[in-house]
Amino acid sequence: MMKVFVTRRIPQEGMKILQKAGMCNLSVWDSDEPVPRAELLKGVAGAHGILCLLSDKIDTEVLDAAGPNLKVISTLSVGFDHLAIDEIKKRGIRVGYTPDVLTDATAELTVALLLATARRLPEGVEEVKNGGWSTWKPLWLCGYGLSGSTVGVIGLGRIGLAIASRLKPFGVKRLLYTGRQPKPQAQEVDGEYVPLDTLLSESDFVVVSCSLSPDTQGLCDKTFFSKMKKTSIFINSSRGAVVNQDDLFEALSSGQIAAAGLDVTTPEPLPTDHPLLTLKNCVVLPHIGSATYSTRGVMSALTANNLLAGLTGSEMPSELKL
Ligand code: NDP
Ligand code: DGY
Repeated sequence: MMKVFVTRRIPQEGMKILQKAGMCNLSVWDSDEPVPRAELLKGVAGAHGILCLLSDKIDTEVLDAAGPNLKVISTLSVGFDHLAIDEIKKRGIRVGYTPDVLTDATAELTVALLLATARRLPEGVEEVKNGGWSTWKPLWLCGYGLSGSTVGVIGLGRIGLAIASRLKPFGVKRLLYTGRQPKPQAQEVDGEYVPLDTLLSESDFVVVSCSLSPDTQGLCDKTFFSKMKKTSIFINSSRGAVVNQDDLFEALSSGQIAAAGLDVTTPEPLPTDHPLLTLKNCVVLPHIGSATYSTRGVMSALTANNLLAGLTGSEMPSELKL
């Protein structure tokens, strides 16, 4: 039997696969809340496999605590910025992740967030509840529409492209994107590859969908926001650390940009007294991009199958190439 530590209660689809395989001695942190660090270090000791979440930092300390048996880390996420990739690679440990299966759900949520932010939906709902809705007013709760607009996507990967293809039918006039190199698949959305500065100065909507890396950490800072139009909307559904939140607060409160919608923050959860939460022009969601029942079920099954393949030394359905 292979020892496997599962760092959280996960959708039953994945657990059934692991149980049915009959080859794992499963130890589960059976809670909806993250495993405390000390329990994580204890739980992984001697493990052959770790099934983890994006909230678990898998660093040298965890790898050392697991020891030499560790063959595979399977994360229930497409993002892998929580994994110490260089160290994992050095130790010959394989990594499974969940690309593609959450692309549609995350792109859909990003579009919902963009519309909610640009058309001020949370403010409107609040006004209905608190009696602020007195009558129909020509100048009240106006926002920004997509029709005839320019959208700029930072990181036209799987999710970025899926966001772009969903936004185009709203009548978007120009679709700009930036990244490390032009993408052939940009043709599908008539995407124009432009330098970051051009994207920022010409876009009405700036959507961040790149992965978090040393290159993208803090990318959206004071200088970045200063290049955006005063009427533009900033949306981030990638990782919170791509944004300098102090600089975003300043840009939003000074009128440097019109509004922001964030599905991801630093830290998560964002403290309820965080300055960003005092702003009407900032919509913050609790990292729910992939949160549909079916997507989470499929992610769970894929994560389990990746783990089993790693344990048996066979081909993984979705292996991260290290
Ligand atoms: P992909 O790898 O397909 O896309 C990431 C994109 O980021 C690639 O196009 C990549 O370009 C680009 N990129 C990398 N570095 C830079 C850079 N310096 N500047 C601009 N672009 C850059 O991943 P996915 O689309 O599947 O996922 C993207 C991210 O979304 C995940 O890493 C995760 O953090 C986040 N995510 C968030 C979710 C949520 O719930 N909010 C749900 C799912 C994912 P290149 O190909 O040239 O490297
Ligand atoms: C991911 O997969 O990286 C998301 O952030 C959660 O689905």
